[in-house]
Amino acid sequence: MRFRRCAAAAAVALFAVLAASGGTASAASCPWMNPTLSPNARAEMLLGAMSLSDKVAMTYQQYPLDYHYGAAGYIPGNASLCIPDLVFNDAGQGVGDAQTGTTAFPAPIAQSASWDPGLQYQFGAALGQEASEKGIDVQLAPGIETDRVPMDGRNWEYASEDPFLSGQTGAAEVEGIQSQHVIVTLKHYIANSQETDRMTDSADVDQRTLEEMYAPQYDVAIHQGGAMGVMCSYNRINSVYACENPQTLKGMLDGQFGFTGMVVSDWGATHSTVASAMNGLDIEMNVTPGTYFGPALETAVEDGQVPTSTLNDMVLRILRAMFTVGVFDHPPAAQPEAYAAPVSTPDHVALARTISEEGTVLLKNQDGILPLTGSGQKIALIGPAAGQTGAENEYNGEGSGHIPEVGVVPVVSPLQGITQRAAADDDTVLYADGTATADAVAAAKAANVAVVVVGDSESEGTDRSSLTLTGGTCTLEGCVPQTSDQNALISAVAAANPNTVVVLDTGGPVLMPWLGQVKGLFEAWYPGQEDGNALAALLFGDVDPSAHLPETFPASETAQPISTAAQWPGVTEPGDSVGPHSIYSEGLLVGYRWYEANGVTPLFPFGYGLSYTTFHFSDLTVTPASSGAVARFTLQNTGSRYGADVAQAYVGMPASTGEPPRQLKGYQKVWLEPGQSKTVSIALPETSFAHWDTTAGTWVVTPGDYTVSVGDSSAGLPLQATLSRSSAQLPAGAY
Ligand code: NOJ
Repeated sequence: MRFRRCAAAAAVALFAVLAASGGTASAASCPWMNPTLSPNARAEMLLGAMSLSDKVAMTYQQYPLDYHYGAAGYIPGNASLCIPDLVFNDAGQGVGDAQTGTTAFPAPIAQSASWDPGLQYQFGAALGQEASEKGIDVQLAPGIETDRVPMDGRNWEYASEDPFLSGQTGAAEVEGIQSQHVIVTLKHYIANSQETDRMTDSADVDQRTLEEMYAPQYDVAIHQGGAMGVMCSYNRINSVYACENPQTLKGMLDGQFGFTGMVVSDWGATHSTVASAMNGLDIEMNVTPGTYFGPALETAVEDGQVPTSTLNDMVLRILRAMFTVGVFDHPPAAQPEAYAAPVSTPDHVALARTISEEGTVLLKNQDGILPLTGSGQKIALIGPAAGQTGAENEYNGEGSGHIPEVGVVPVVSPLQGITQRAAADDDTVLYADGTATADAVAAAKAANVAVVVVGDSESEGTDRSSLTLTGGTCTLEGCVPQTSDQNALISAVAAANPNTVVVLDTGGPVLMPWLGQVKGLFEAWYPGQEDGNALAALLFGDVDPSAHLPETFPASETAQPISTAAQWPGVTEPGDSVGPHSIYSEGLLVGYRWYEANGVTPLFPFGYGLSYTTFHFSDLTVTPASSGAVARFTLQNTGSRYGADVAQAYVGMPASTGEPPRQLKGYQKVWLEPGQSKTVSIALPETSFAHWDTTAGTWVVTPGDYTVSVGDSSAGLPLQATLSRSSAQLPAGAY
């Protein structure tokens, strides 16, 4: 049995058969229902009509998890004030929790591996549409924290180790979700890098590192994507819980990023009434409902410990989010019909397949082993993740990002997808599930090519203990590793057949002791329900592999940025009995920044990915623009197939800034016909040349020469140009 949800709470009643309580009074009695007024004016007008208890009722989860039609959270509406219900649901790879009949899309990390914001917008819109049709108006997504620790159990739920890529990915998804009148919650704000001791750990991080490596994606998702919800995380930041942290909430979120929407606590992440309300939390979501923001908040307001103006501001932020995104004017589908309704569509399933095709990274293709060509070939398909559907298949991760209930999703396994596609070429598939190595070896020996599909199971609540590919099953309570050794299986198959291709279904990087023995390698992450179809299309070359890594793959357990116990999983500090401290001593050197600064060669660099065709970069110019600069260069498809490359622009700052050697500041995915050339322009706004100045409390540009490097991975940058910048100070929040 696989575990799907976030909270370890005991099972509770699945749902209450309650009539939706909001939105029934007439528009005449609710003048704020006039859509010609601004969202803010409507919110203020409504606030003026609310009693103290009406207001407090909006600030907390009053019912247990799953109470309302299988959703993670529920704040009932107020019919007499025309306020609709707020229904919160998880949505990492699709509308999850206890919802059924929804589409299982690829994991968030697969989405960002596509480097395609247009696709991420479509994903968000599909997610928002399915949510709305299921009666949900707040999506607990997207996850955009920086993947700092490769062993993090939620690595797969986040976009990237790079804040720029996370920001662009997140902003596009936000726009898509909110286009369907469903409010997002960006999560988990902030410095939420690990699952070990996740409720108590303190992320000890200096301000510059926080601003540069962990905050920009939130800023971008808010000002570019228009996000109206943020979820504060379980962890502490510099010893103060995230949901009552004045520095990160009032200071950064509101003060710098200009956020005017609602801050929602993670489930059980609220630890106080007065401090939380005063420091910027608007909604307490809890496993035990209403611990701090129910009657306790009402009393605190009556006693004057929390001023009425603070409560007003909290409620205003919630209402403003609802009016801005359109929840009042376009409420989600009514219950109980919505709960029963199947909402996945053929278009959404096709989109799930496209995202998996565009998100699966080709990492090795020796001797042109791929794509599989010819006819009448024998293909040995081997491995624990190849054959099963549903419960055992590694189509998605575990915890609240899991989608949806066991056995409900019609998952196309690699066996099904590849068998069907092979038939079109008169190829035959010889299948061995890999539990008996002898059977796998026999199949491999009898075949022209062997494809081994292996995977792991990463979960919220549990970090991986190492980067070894262990397989098995993870839940909030921990991981049970597979007894069979997948690395040994791959080696045995590769020894039996030199034409071996490995497919990884993992949530993040793993070590690959067998890499030199195999000819082909795909990282498919958790590919969603179209797993087998997408994989078959890539293996047979029906589509060009176009994904690039959003995260560096280390060559060894120790040759990577997070290698001391103090960094992860943290150490106890004298005098702090709350929990351990994880010391962010690597500072700005997160992911590829560390490898480059230290001259360490990873197994596969950030931004890397192969295609079935080849590309050439030439003629870079970088010219000043009204804000910042523009990099222009030529990209040519020099091969004989239609395909895509991800053109990436990195900026190197003057040494005096103390910045890492190079940082991603722009990218574009470009599809080209064979022989076709294109002039690609990548905008580099002034923020691309800025770093955080802690003394000035803002972004500054140091005068000097900046290097702009262009290519298709952080370690493959054939073009360079320099550009000089003058001194500048950018407004805080200008990132
Ligand atoms: C806890 C998880 O950390 C969060 O991501 C999720 O949205 C909530 N539970 C609700 O399920």
